[in-house]
Amino acid sequence: MTEPLVVPSVLPADFARLGEEVRELCEAGVDRIQWDVMDGVFVPNLTFGPDLIAAARPYSTVGFEAHLMVVEPDELLGRYVDAGCELVIVHAEACRHLHRTLARIRDLGARSGVALNPHTPVDTVAHVLAETDLVLAMTVNPGFGGQAYICAVEPKIARLRRMIDESELPIELEVDGGITEVTIRGAAAAGADVFISGSWMYAYPDGKAAAVKRLRAAAKGEEV
Ligand code: DX5
Repeated sequence: MTEPLVVPSVLPADFARLGEEVRELCEAGVDRIQWDVMDGVFVPNLTFGPDLIAAARPYSTVGFEAHLMVVEPDELLGRYVDAGCELVIVHAEACRHLHRTLARIRDLGARSGVALNPHTPVDTVAHVLAETDLVLAMTVNPGFGGQAYICAVEPKIARLRRMIDESELPIELEVDGGITEVTIRGAAAAGADVFISGSWMYAYPDGKAAAVKRLRAAAKGEEV
């Protein structure tokens, strides 16, 4: 396994002090920061616009990724790249022309990602791997943090891992939803190498730096 990446979602953060929250995540040693962008239509929640992310960008020493849980991502791609997101993830379920959308993200100068909801089959991405820098296998149904990890997704993660390895393309395999020091083990064993954590990391009693260390160790199968 490549070195596992630990990427917090800022969904549980104190939105009244987002700049400081971003700075604290960087000080905790995270690899990137994920912004869960929700439009209230694709998912029943509403969150971050590009201007808010742009305001937080100067506080960060790590890259930003935008997880677009929105119905018309093509209209927003440039806004989130301009806001400072170096990786933009769209949902396959929201794209009429996924191949073109992923190519457009790259044309804008960002890395491209495609997310699959728990019910969406892996073949959905079989013909777009050459346009993709990251595949995100959702381990919850998107819209809210603090949900239970869906372990039934693990065989799907394993199939995605085989598909990516056979392609010999440098594609990251990310999981998002219900990731804790326990569930990360199954996701990593199935082949994931990038791990989104929100509520567990924010609730960890010894702080975010200790949480990051525990997640990395657990992903590598080390005793924690
Ligand atoms: C769901 C969100 C969450 C979030 C992580 O739409 O994408 O998965 O990032 O939330 P936790 O870690 O609290 O499940």
